[in-house]
Amino acid sequence: MIRKIALSAALAVVATSGAALAAGGGHREITDVAFAHEGPFGKFDQFQLQRGLQVYTEVCSACHGLKYVPIRTLADEGGPQLPEDQVRAYAEQFTVTDAETGEDRAGLPTDHFPASAMEGAPDLSLMTKARAGFSGPYGTGMSQLFNGMGGAEYMYSLLTHYEENPECAPDGIDGFYYNTSFDKGAIPETCKDEHGVSTIPGSWIAMPEPLADDLVTYADGTPATKSQMAEDVSSFLMWAAEPKLMDRREAGFKAVIFLTILASLLYLTNKRIWAGVKGKKA
Ligand code: HEC
Repeated sequence: MIRKIALSAALAVVATSGAALAAGGGHREITDVAFAHEGPFGKFDQFQLQRGLQVYTEVCSACHGLKYVPIRTLADEGGPQLPEDQVRAYAEQFTVTDAETGEDRAGLPTDHFPASAMEGAPDLSLMTKARAGFSGPYGTGMSQLFNGMGGAEYMYSLLTHYEENPECAPDGIDGFYYNTSFDKGAIPETCKDEHGVSTIPGSWIAMPEPLADDLVTYADGTPATKSQMAEDVSSFLMWAAEPKLMDRREAGFKAVIFLTILASLLYLTNKRIWAGVKGKKA
């Protein structure tokens, strides 16, 4: 009986996860990237974060802001780890209105990054946590546990999946750009079937394609291909949204190891305490 119940429970789990897969595997393209920060022992790559900061500064910040990120964190361990004098120089390029004196002054490391410069361009401070690349729950959820929700993958995909207008709408939508990873934008009626369901991946976004090969020149000599820049800036924005990712993961691992040892000790103690009683019975 118990075996039967267990079997049907297992089947139910398989069935529901299958259904979720079908529903979630919908209309957008997400590229899986092997980021350095993934996996149980993953760490942000300091030099990749520095390159990502460069892409963010030279390209994205023309429209977007990072207003929740303090500039001083660029020096933090586990982050881009810029030397203090470079952080100071980075801050100085901005003009901020001092909250106390009301006067304009050069930025300080204690200031935050500026807010979005363009209306309609969202702040990117928390964007990689607000968006998921892997929509779940898939299967057992193990992938999400180890790889996160794929916010960085979504970011990478968004930046690299601009494409020509599809056949169903050769003229596209005025002022918008076709992106096969962006599923929150408008879709012309001609690209929908009789049930109103989209027949194409993605939709139209108001952001023009921001990256192109060799748009920046990396100080460390890394070739600035579109996909390299997308990967670097996605990693940087993941760090910006979750600077303590490594610390949290480490604390989690320590807790699991501690609990495993505690559980084995309790098991052995329990056996010992009851040894006399159980021994008699036999
Ligand atoms: C010319 C201005 C401009 C530049 C440059 C720009 N963006 Fe955008 N971005 C926008 C606008 C406008 C939107 C809102 C689009 C919409 O909702 O249709 C947007 C939206 C986004 C979104 C949100 C997508 C979503 O899921 O809602 C992300 C992420 C993003 N941009 C990342 C970047 C990154 C990273 C860069 C630099 C490589 C960048 N953008 C450069 C204007 C820009």
